[in-house]
Amino acid sequence: MKIAIASDHAGFRLKEGLKAFFERNNIDYIDFGTDSTASVDYPDFAKKVVDCIRNGCADFGVLICGTGLGMSMAANRFKGIRAALCFFPEMARLARKDNNANILVLPGRFMGIELAEWVLSAFLETKFEGGRHERRIRKLEDYGS
Ligand code: RB5
Repeated sequence: MKIAIASDHAGFRLKEGLKAFFERNNIDYIDFGTDSTASVDYPDFAKKVVDCIRNGCADFGVLICGTGLGMSMAANRFKGIRAALCFFPEMARLARKDNNANILVLPGRFMGIELAEWVLSAFLETKFEGGRHERRIRKLEDYGS
């Protein structure tokens, strides 16, 4: 499994913490930046992870900004992307099980590394259930551009 990860300045520290988690757990990842806490624009970094997921260079994405809202808004504009802002492990589990989310979005200003690791683990460990949820996701795809 390969993960594409990116953040803006407000998510930078949490991103670096999650990279250490990937390394400890032998999870392959690609870091699309940002590389410091210097101010940047979150849509630019959302787009890098979105492009990677859409062209198959990674299986799942992780995006982090201050609230998680900007990254969610940016990523969910693209067809085939289902980005889920999750504050708790159970939300991440349901985002995978019911929504087949392919990008996990985290709020860098409101989440510490320990909770972020739990949320990410729940996301990565859960499979999409399919069935009635498949029909709903097809309807989402009809709205995408
Ligand atoms: C940057 O200050 C902040 O606006 C951004 O990280 C994010 O929270 C936007 O939704």
